[in-house]
Amino acid sequence: MNKRFTFNFEFFDYFEGMCFIISENGKILSFNKSSAQKLQINLNKINFFEMIDESEKDLLKEAISRCITNQKSIDLQSKFKNGNQTTVVDLLLSPYNSNENGVSQANNCFIIANDVTSKKEREEELQRFFYVAENTVNPLQITDTEGRMIYVNPAFLKVSGYTKEELIGENPRIFGSKKQLKKFWSEMWTTIKNGKVWIGDVENRKKNGEPFHTQLLISPILDSEQNVTGYFGVHRDLSEKKTLEKQLIHTQKMESIGTLAAGIAHEVGNPLASISALVQVAQRFTTDDLVKEKLELVKNQVNRISKIIRDLVDFSRPSNFEFQFTDINKNLTEAVEITKVGVKAKDVVYELNLNKNIPHLPLVADQIQQVFVNILLNATDAILESQKKEKKIVVKSHMNENGEVIITFSDNGIGIAEENIPKIFEPFFTTKKEGKGTGLGLWVSYGIIKSFQGEIKVSSIYGQSTTFTISLPVQN
Ligand SMILES: Nc1ncnc2c1ncn2[C@@H]1O[C@H](COP(=O)(O)OP(=O)(O)O)[C@@H](O)[C@H]1O
Ligand SMILES: [Mg+2]
Repeated sequence: MNKRFTFNFEFFDYFEGMCFIISENGKILSFNKSSAQKLQINLNKINFFEMIDESEKDLLKEAISRCITNQKSIDLQSKFKNGNQTTVVDLLLSPYNSNENGVSQANNCFIIANDVTSKKEREEELQRFFYVAENTVNPLQITDTEGRMIYVNPAFLKVSGYTKEELIGENPRIFGSKKQLKKFWSEMWTTIKNGKVWIGDVENRKKNGEPFHTQLLISPILDSEQNVTGYFGVHRDLSEKKTLEKQLIHTQKMESIGTLAAGIAHEVGNPLASISALVQVAQRFTTDDLVKEKLELVKNQVNRISKIIRDLVDFSRPSNFEFQFTDINKNLTEAVEITKVGVKAKDVVYELNLNKNIPHLPLVADQIQQVFVNILLNATDAILESQKKEKKIVVKSHMNENGEVIITFSDNGIGIAEENIPKIFEPFFTTKKEGKGTGLGLWVSYGIIKSFQGEIKVSSIYGQSTTFTISLPVQN
């Protein structure tokens, strides 16, 4: 039953792959057409091992011996060399026994060689791209056509705070902040499903709930027939840009409110002065005690409004005061003295820690003092409201490495609730009882410091402490 076929080696001429029969020492006994065509070498005149790249020669010799000795086929990769041209080949070695005088001789090897040069190049190219993807700072993600993530790079894991295991197979919806409308995303899908590139600014959520802003570019991945096989997303981190934008919006908001306030102060101030004068006239001419008493109340309320107006005017008054070289430390000491005069509870300790080497700064002395007093009064209020035994306000001044003067006011008062921190510089924001605070002090201070090209910042631990930091440039 076991019928043996014998066929001519020319049969292999129909093969695309290169086929050879060689002896153990590399003598080429037969080869097919495609090997002659592909290699462009006269194969009748050459030893097989001469065509092998130097670096691969020993390995291949050893493999061929092993194949013949063990009578087992072997797979391996090797390189053909012809002048400058290198061909990467996948080799299949099989023992091929010759028959001498009816005796089978284990002495030859049948080789099929497939050219994988371009495949190998593609692999290397892919490896290079993979390396870039893994090491770039831009977060990358690849999703399949259903939108499930099949690849995310380390930069993506870093910004999102998730692990790879948590993301693969998931839909990027899990980063959703719900800040974008449904329409936004449906337009995105329409674009990319049609094989086009989509770009948009998105706000995502990290695993811990914090937002991360990115510009997202999604590009469809197409196969050779232009079918969409997946999507490739590149994020560009916009966090820093967003922070700057927010700061700019905040600054502009404060500025426009300032302009508005100047107008209101003027419009309200004049009629208010008339009311105040008229009330006094009426008080003088009436004999009715009840009317007198009621007019007194009116006067108090008018005074209260006047105080607010004065604060507003302070802020909005174009700075026609002269700049003069001001001794910040002296100014701070005076501000503390002024504050102390008004303190009801005498047990607040004011500690001054001033650096003597601070140069005099070109400032408007009255205005900077107004800022210091505002901050010190707030700190005093915060301390008196807390139940702490030790009541202490520390004022420090020093120069930093950027050549700026830094002044800090720290108190161990009630602190500021986190949600209020962004609001305290806004006009009329106050947490104090009616009649106690106008909510204008810090807003005025902010405006003054900005006009000196400085910065005013706050940090606070609610219930524990608050520090205001002012930085002023030395060169104006
Ligand atoms: N040192 C501080 N400790 C706690 N809260 C403070 C401190 N400084 C300011 N604040 C908060 O900022 C708000 C606004 O301050 P400010 O503009 O001076 O207005 P006002 O003192 O009239 O309330 C205060 O009402 C208070 O809630
Ligand atoms: Mg105040």
